[in-house]
Amino acid sequence: MKENTDGRHQLIAKSNAETVEPSVFVPSTGNVREYRNALGRFGTGVTIVTTSIGDTPLGITVNSFASVSLEPALVLWSPAKRSKHYAEFESAPFYAIHVLNHSQAELASHFARDARSFSHCDWHRGDNGVPLIEHSVARFECQRLHSHDGGDHAIVVGSVVRAANFGGEPLMFVGGEYGRFVGAA
Ligand SMILES: Cc1cc2nc3c(=O)[nH]c(=O)nc-3n(C[C@H](O)[C@H](O)[C@H](O)COP(=O)(O)O)c2cc1C
Repeated sequence: MKENTDGRHQLIAKSNAETVEPSVFVPSTGNVREYRNALGRFGTGVTIVTTSIGDTPLGITVNSFASVSLEPALVLWSPAKRSKHYAEFESAPFYAIHVLNHSQAELASHFARDARSFSHCDWHRGDNGVPLIEHSVARFECQRLHSHDGGDHAIVVGSVVRAANFGGEPLMFVGGEYGRFVGAA
């Protein structure tokens, strides 16, 4: 933590708009909000993970997506165990991960509230009935490989059976806010 010459702690930027008091702490049940705020400093893209349970399409907004392995092509995401649709997402044999375009922030909000928000987007069914949402910047169609315990989340690892790069500007998520990437140059 830096100190100014007048002895007050220097504020660090939380996002472009806000400042926070620097803090160092042991994560515990008493400071979950503070811990989440610290995690929120890690900027991510935003994805929607889709699957189909019988004929019912389901989607969830997710920023825990990560690449695991290039050869073979493996990716992961982490469903929260307390989520209403945890069982369906954790066990889905086939699913698709859509990396959202910056214009899809509202869609991200819809799928964060309601897993059945498909009336808010253009979509069609791909292989194995998996819902494929239009206008993403990239898409990874996956077959579930395995799932690991991860505390209050699971870590679902999938084999990428088809990848797509559509180009365009991705949606970003930092400090609890949606935004756009601005390059350093
Ligand atoms: C930007 C963003 C990222 C999220 N990432 C995840 C995630 O990685 N895993 C997860 O289980 N839920 C994630 N969520 C929460 C889900 O989208 C959704 O809000 C939650 O599953 C709803 O819970 P419920 O079905 O119990 O109402 C995220 C939400 C937002 C807005």
